[in-house]
Amino acid sequence: MNIHKFVMPEVIFGAGSLKQVGESCIRLGATNVFIVSDSGVIETGWLEVVMDDCKKAGLKVHTFSDITVNPKDHEVEKGCQLYVEKECDAIIGIGGGSAMDAAKAIAILSTNGGEIEDYEGVDKINRPLPPLIMIPTTAGSGSEVSQFSVIVHTKWKKKMTIVSKSLVPDIAIVDPDTLATKSALLTAATGIDVLTHGIEAYVSLAATPLTDVHAQNAIKLVANYLRPSVASKMNKEAKLQMAIASLQAGLAFSNAILGAVHAMSHTIGGRYPMLHGEVNSILLPHVMEFNLLANPKKFSEIAYLLGVNTHGIPEVEAGKQGIESIKQLLKDIDAPDSLSKMGIEEEVIPLMSQMAIKDACMITNPRDMTINELENLFKRAW
Ligand SMILES: [Fe+2]
Repeated sequence: MNIHKFVMPEVIFGAGSLKQVGESCIRLGATNVFIVSDSGVIETGWLEVVMDDCKKAGLKVHTFSDITVNPKDHEVEKGCQLYVEKECDAIIGIGGGSAMDAAKAIAILSTNGGEIEDYEGVDKINRPLPPLIMIPTTAGSGSEVSQFSVIVHTKWKKKMTIVSKSLVPDIAIVDPDTLATKSALLTAATGIDVLTHGIEAYVSLAATPLTDVHAQNAIKLVANYLRPSVASKMNKEAKLQMAIASLQAGLAFSNAILGAVHAMSHTIGGRYPMLHGEVNSILLPHVMEFNLLANPKKFSEIAYLLGVNTHGIPEVEAGKQGIESIKQLLKDIDAPDSLSKMGIEEEVIPLMSQMAIKDACMITNPRDMTINELENLFKRAW
């Protein structure tokens, strides 16, 4: 018997949906909410909108924003202390992946105790979490719908991947208007993360027909709308379509898991303060070239979704053309293409390879990989 499970939160989607947050908290039984954000979200004014709506709904509100890019274990501990001290009963995460992943990790510690490293891996959370509402302001990490939280272990200098159905938020509020405040650089980096989620989920060993439809649409939307979204903050149509792409890529990878790009990317993000999407943009073409052999049919379909005319072309050849079209997209949006140019030291490649091979995302990579092959991929990307 082949059983497929598909988990997702209630999704409230559309321009202006940010103002559904107060009512959403009330529906979940909250009275005293803890809002996790970061300095960028405060600057853009979105945190204030959320706070106002919560207060209007009669809720008590506390905020925590001591979160950095690639959120750290000690930041999560600090947030949890404040959550407990203020006796809050629900958590809102608003921001990019960093704020939302930190909000989820605070939720874990608040009811399960211990250290955040105790929960690394799959299904380690035993007690129910407080009600969770996630509001993405980038397109994006997909954390608003996913069963993932990724936190940096500062001592080990690595990203810990926590996977549990308990981490699927109760409600995801996706308001495309929030995307208009992001720089071209951030729009490009987060958009490539969306593309990577779509592709890795589509060729994942755990992909199902339920995840494939979301991955396919996400890939197609990124191919059509990432360029205009990077080009203009004011292009509402591009922002709307990228918000859908991010949501669908999130639904796909939350249920199909990811692959070698994310396994490798996590080791870099734990050590260097690079944007997750920028690391992915460097690694993605190299990993696709390596993985092509494992599933030419799906790589050929990816090429078609990216706009390549695959009619009458052998699958492997079509797959290669798809990878070329991604390289062109990366060039067009000025994405970085080398780890060395980003300041990654060559000496750490063997250590990063050893860490990447043990990452939870490696389990679903479509092609088996030895430590030497992994090291070679890092070297090609260097
Ligand atoms: Fe990602």
